[in-house]
Amino acid sequence: MLIKNVPSWHLPERAATPEAIYLNRRSLIGALAAGSALAASGPFAAAARAEDGQAVPDPSLGRYPATRNDAYLLDRPVTPKDAVWDYNNFYEFGTSKSISRRAAALQPRPWTVTVDGLVDRPTRFEIDDLFAKVQFEERLYRHRCVEAWSMAVPWTGFPLKALLDLVGPQADARYVRFETFMDPAVAPLQEQPFYPWPYVEGMTLAEAANDLAFLVTGIYGQPLAAQFGTPLRLALPWKYGFKSIKSIVKVTLTDERPVNFWQAIGPSEYGFWANVNPNVDHPRWSQASERVLATGERVPTLLFNGYAEAVADLYKGLGAEPLYM
Ligand code: MTE
Repeated sequence: MLIKNVPSWHLPERAATPEAIYLNRRSLIGALAAGSALAASGPFAAAARAEDGQAVPDPSLGRYPATRNDAYLLDRPVTPKDAVWDYNNFYEFGTSKSISRRAAALQPRPWTVTVDGLVDRPTRFEIDDLFAKVQFEERLYRHRCVEAWSMAVPWTGFPLKALLDLVGPQADARYVRFETFMDPAVAPLQEQPFYPWPYVEGMTLAEAANDLAFLVTGIYGQPLAAQFGTPLRLALPWKYGFKSIKSIVKVTLTDERPVNFWQAIGPSEYGFWANVNPNVDHPRWSQASERVLATGERVPTLLFNGYAEAVADLYKGLGAEPLYM
């Protein structure tokens, strides 16, 4: 993510920076972060560990791969797994893309998701109790980062609407606010006071109830590896990727518009809506095209990332809002 006026120690990725220079910066940050004694047990550790160090079994394993929902098709090939496996944005673990080893410190069990606020049935779900209440399916979705790279991946999960139905939104609920875990012992960047931790995101209730809004539990036919936001994240494919919050612990229905993490850091560059639009540039770079991970090909970006038919109606009458930042 790209921000202006950052403290001197903060070296964000810059789309405008030649890749060789940027890669050098990344390895510098990576080396610094690696020095801070991270608890990863291996590159792609699969099992969670309890406090006593014992592996906690994942009771949902038998539900993968889930049946693919063919209503969600791609206009491009699925990105090969190895191109995305260690290319992530998960700032809790560092500002580089290569955080999979460090993120492996994140244990998906035990894990609870609290749903509260303007709902009839506020509930604190144990993650596997929540999973037992919903049907898993696989969807092929495009993903367009605000930094102008993109991928297309098979997510497993369930519609966000299914979670809303479990708790019963009240009539005055207008927004849904999401919050990530807060544990600096696991996620070292949460020690950095510059960032407004924990990571927060939000959307309108109407957006949350849209069929495309998907709560993700897995990727490539297996439970989410830590770097993708284990055990539960969002996928909102018509919005820039920063809206797809990872490792959710809290969902609050509210009548107040949430201020998201990047909006709090750089309100002139990152907004609440963040719908993909090739005709509205980021203040410091073009959004007209995107670099496809794996091939490096540059392709034109599509309005609402190609999902206009499904979501354009959500924004009727909202023309005065900054819908595309
Ligand atoms: N969620 C949390 N908690 N922390 C983050 O840093 N980064 C966001 C989003 N969700 C982020 C997050 C950004 S900028 C993007 S592009 C996507 O996650 C990246 O998802 P991926 O790593 O699965 O590609």
